[in-house]
Amino acid sequence: MKRRLPDALRVYVDAMRYPRGTEEQRAALWLEHTRRAGWKCVAAVALDLDEDPDGGVPATTDLLDAELRGIAYGYRGAPDQWWQQQVISGLQRNGTDPGRIAELMVSYFELTELHIAPRAQGHGLGEALTRRLLAGRDESHVLLSTPEINGEANRAWRLYRRLGFGDVIRDYHFAGDPRPFAILGRPLPL
Ligand SMILES: CC(C)(COP(=O)(O)OP(=O)(O)OC[C@H]1O[C@@H](n2cnc3c(N)ncnc32)[C@H](O)[C@@H]1OP(=O)(O)O)[C@@H](O)C(=O)NCCC(=O)NCCS
Repeated sequence: MKRRLPDALRVYVDAMRYPRGTEEQRAALWLEHTRRAGWKCVAAVALDLDEDPDGGVPATTDLLDAELRGIAYGYRGAPDQWWQQQVISGLQRNGTDPGRIAELMVSYFELTELHIAPRAQGHGLGEALTRRLLAGRDESHVLLSTPEINGEANRAWRLYRRLGFGDVIRDYHFAGDPRPFAILGRPLPL
C-alpha cells in the first residue's frame, strides 16, 4: 500500500468523482489504516498475459508496476475507532437494544474502501475484490457504509444487495458530513 498509495488514491478519487486534491487529504489516513489490527487489502491490476515470457504467470515485478484498476481494504472493528463510535451512537439513537449493539460490535470486519477505476467498472471486478477481501476472515460479520442513493440505483448498492448485505442503519449522518449514509452488514463467511 505504501508503494502504490498515489495510484490507489487516484483510483479512489476517480471512482468517487471527488475533486482533485482529495488524494493528499486522505493519504495519511489510509497509511494509518494499514497499521490497524486485521488490516487486509486487495487490488486489481491490468496485465497483458499474452506478452508474458513465462507463459502467463506474471512476475512479481510486473505486478508491482502494473496499472492499478481497483482497490479494496478493511480491518477489524475496534472500540477506539471513530467509525465504530459513530455507528454505536447511530444504533443508540435508533433505539437498538444494547445487547444487539454489543453483539454487532464484538466481532466485525469493516469494509472501509472499495473502488474500481471508472473505465474498468461493470465487469465484475468489484465483486471479485470483495469476495477475495472477505475470504478467510475470522470475524463473525462484515459492516460497511455507503452513501444513500435514491432507489438504491447505483452499482455499489446493486453489488451489496446481490451479496446479501442487509440494513443496519439507514439515512445516517456521520459527524461532519452532510450526506446521508447507509450502514449495511451481513454474516461471514460470504
Ligand atoms: C461499486 C463498484 C465498486 C462496483 O464494482 P464493479 O466492478 O463496477 O461492479 P461489479 O463487480 O458489481 O460488477 C457488476 C457488473 O459487472 C458485470 N459482470 C459481472 N461479472 C462479469 C464478468 N465475469 N465479465 C464481465 N462482466 C461481468 C455485471 O453484469 C454487472 O454489470 P451491470 O452493473 O452493468 O449490470 C464500482 O462500480 C465503483 O468503484 N463505483 C464507484 C465508487 C463506489 O461507489 N464505491 C463504493 C462506495 S461505498
